[in-house]
Amino acid sequence: MNTLSDALRQNVPNSAQTPARAPAPAPALTPISATLNVAADFPILARPVHGRRLAYLDNGATTQKPEAVIDAEARFYRESNANIHRGVHWLSQHATDLYEAARGTVQRFINAPRADEIVFTRGTTEAINLVAYSWGRAELRPGDEILITTMEHHSNIVPWQLLCDHTGAVLKVVPISDAGELDLAAFDALLTLRTRLVAITHISNALGTIIPVAALTASAHAVGAIVLVDGAQAVAHQKVDVQALGCDFYAFSGHKLYGPTGIGVLWGRAELLAAMPPWQGGGDMIRTVSFERTTYADAPQRFEAGTPNIAGTIGLAAAIDYVSAIGIERIAAHEHALLVHATAALAAIPGIRLIGTAAHKAGILSFMVESIHPHDLGTILDAEGVAIRAGHHCAMPLMTRFGIPGTARASLAMYNDETDIAALVAAIYKAQDLFGTRRPAA
Ligand code: ALA
Repeated sequence: MNTLSDALRQNVPNSAQTPARAPAPAPALTPISATLNVAADFPILARPVHGRRLAYLDNGATTQKPEAVIDAEARFYRESNANIHRGVHWLSQHATDLYEAARGTVQRFINAPRADEIVFTRGTTEAINLVAYSWGRAELRPGDEILITTMEHHSNIVPWQLLCDHTGAVLKVVPISDAGELDLAAFDALLTLRTRLVAITHISNALGTIIPVAALTASAHAVGAIVLVDGAQAVAHQKVDVQALGCDFYAFSGHKLYGPTGIGVLWGRAELLAAMPPWQGGGDMIRTVSFERTTYADAPQRFEAGTPNIAGTIGLAAAIDYVSAIGIERIAAHEHALLVHATAALAAIPGIRLIGTAAHKAGILSFMVESIHPHDLGTILDAEGVAIRAGHHCAMPLMTRFGIPGTARASLAMYNDETDIAALVAAIYKAQDLFGTRRPAA
């Protein structure tokens, strides 16, 4: 494999120069009938990067924010800022009303039965850790089993490893196929009366595979296990209805849903949350405190110690309102059409290998380009204004499964269109030109 510096030392064309070879003929691609035309709502998309139009394709890492979200947060600080729950003054009550209204907005968005089942957290990672620490330490005994899959993000692996170390529970892992699909027969075989928890991603961040959560949940419940779903990559890309899924916990982050960083959600069934002990102590999570005995607030406050990210909840609610106004089904349809288009465009490049080709996929394209390290590829694409992610995507066991150090990953959002994919394809050809590995199209 050539290195990036080898390539750059050679007689390398820069962006302004003619490519070393004539461009390959454009592959015949499925045209997308309609775009959502929302890019203008996202101010950052108008800024050039390295003097080029930005093709932002790192949405699996974080999405960009529409003006409506940026404004809602700024307006909160300008007009409504105060601490919540404890104040007798008008501003505090106003801020409390906005904070609790945001809880209601989240409840309706994921069709949770009750608003008090929505716990605000810093993000998906904290939500999963909350369950591991609170539910897990109270419930698990030596020999109990936790079932996860090979394609989990580290945030849905490491909290369970810590919990197993603490309780003597055992972590079991469901394998996947070469296409990146869950081995359902293995899932059935690994699910036993010892299984207490199934912790699964809804959509793989590194492969895009969509997991059949409702069916797996039904199987898990049949053996008495509960189900936690890592919804970080799902909630902005398809309708999430926790009652239809039937799961017990659902975790997601605001920043992957066009909302702010530092705010996320744990939804949990009321009866489970009611039985769970606190995990962090402090203000706002208590009923009474004395040196002899402290009693705790009901959920969700029991799990929201300290001053929360109030502005973050306001921004998250604004993001949900924005997404809902466009329509999550329309967003899903657009991203699916773009995924089909982009998959064909990438597959037509000689020397490319797609990692993750499940039949049911969301808008994530992981790939390797022959003889070019993903990090080098990411650097060259960046110089062309194309923002992708390169590396293990916090899924090192998954990379080990495929025998690779990492991938390049383009991940789609509602504002992406064919122009972004064309920029991606052109930049990959450019990288191949730099490395001298470009081959004629078959
Ligand atoms: N978990 C984020 C990703 O997949 C950071 O990129």
